[in-house]
Amino acid sequence: MAKNSSKSKLLPIYIINGPNLNLLGTREPEIYGRATLGEIEKLCAERGRSHGLSTIFLQSNKEGELVEFLQEARTGASAVILNAAAYTHTSVAILDALQTLKQPVIEVHLSNPARREDFRHLSYVAKAATGIIAGLGVNSYLLAIDAVAAILAGAPSKKK
Ligand code: DQA
Repeated sequence: MAKNSSKSKLLPIYIINGPNLNLLGTREPEIYGRATLGEIEKLCAERGRSHGLSTIFLQSNKEGELVEFLQEARTGASAVILNAAAYTHTSVAILDALQTLKQPVIEVHLSNPARREDFRHLSYVAKAATGIIAGLGVNSYLLAIDAVAAILAGAPSKKK
């Protein structure tokens, strides 16, 4: 089947994952599910392809490295999907990096932080996110890709 030519020119979606997400599969599966990060990466690539979009899937346990991924995204990405994990709730450095982006940013979480401990209720990422998808396990990532596809296709969105 012929590729959609306008979409195939788009830069990839950066899907950026923060600390401890490399342990998915064995890390608190009752909260985060049993899918490994590698399995989530594959599903994201497939979902991206179904929209004619490519994905670059990244993970780091280091705050500064996450900031560097976001700086790369300024010129390398058409959109960013970010699960900053615990740094969601603490990192002004990640918020500052997000605020330099002109692209859509979707904050994702496997769990629903609003239902969990009070310290998870504050999200610095949310202050710079176009939208937030949380609590749906792996589907949070897949729905974020659907959202990015809709935004890039020109669906009305409030910001970015
Ligand atoms: C998380 C939620 C965060 O509060 C937590 O620190 C994580 C994972 C999630 O995907 O549900 O590491 O971002």
